[in-house]
Amino acid sequence: MIKIEDLVVSYGGIEALKGISLEVPSGKIVTLVGANGAGKSTTLKSIVGLVKVKSGTIDYEGCDLTKLSTEHMVKKGIALVPEGRRVFSDLTVLENLKIGAYSRKDTKGIAEDLEKVYSLFPRLKERTWQLSGTLSGGEQQMLAIGRALMSRPKLIMMDEPSLGLAPIIVKELFGIIQKINKEGMTVLLIEQNANAALKIADLGYIMETGKITLKGTGKELLSNEDIKKAYLGETAK
Ligand SMILES: Nc1ncnc2c1ncn2[C@@H]1O[C@H](COP(=O)(O)OP(=O)(O)OP(=O)(O)O)[C@@H](O)[C@H]1O
Ligand SMILES: [Mg+2]
Repeated sequence: MIKIEDLVVSYGGIEALKGISLEVPSGKIVTLVGANGAGKSTTLKSIVGLVKVKSGTIDYEGCDLTKLSTEHMVKKGIALVPEGRRVFSDLTVLENLKIGAYSRKDTKGIAEDLEKVYSLFPRLKERTWQLSGTLSGGEQQMLAIGRALMSRPKLIMMDEPSLGLAPIIVKELFGIIQKINKEGMTVLLIEQNANAALKIADLGYIMETGKITLKGTGKELLSNEDIKKAYLGETAK
């Protein structure tokens, strides 16, 4: 679905991505794992056109994303759940979800998707009229994902959805990500929680200071000794 080749991005004179290549096959869960500053968010931002690409290509279903404006991404079926669950705090849960569907006109489809989001996240349904700023961290993350789903994307990309959440909520959230994927959506998941991410991923990439250093199935990477030492130490339970 997405094929990135030799992607280079620099901020000022500093290269944040030093020629990375990666693929997200249709229908799969792919995870990109790496430490702080490795370039994970930059990779996502270059896919949606939020940072300028210096060289390299990003192909999405045969079209070159480096030449497409950010506004076109939603129409193309790409949704991004950005870092730090940015929901509109002064708006209710329902208003936030409706914003996710802003580019659509199919009222019936929107109503169906709202029911789908509410069935995936019953907690959001209970809190339909609550101001989003008063939701717990986990609930806000669910809302951020729900809002992205309201655009009925083909590809959903999430930037560290587990950040700051208790292990039990992370488990619940990743179960829901698997469910979304089983219903046909392709997922690109960025995570520092390598253990949880690799467990549900079909394919994983390890990123270090602007480079992809390792690629494999989730299972292969989970059992890789170097990965265990570097990323699974504390969290491998
Ligand atoms: N707007 C910017 N201006 C200058 N440097 C930037 C900018 N955004 C990111 N960088 C730098 O690029 C590198 C990669 O950043 P990026 O946000 O992609 O990392 P990350 O892997 O997402 O890290 P984290 O896990 O902490 O979110 C970092 O060294 C960062 O300081
Ligand atoms: Mg980041």
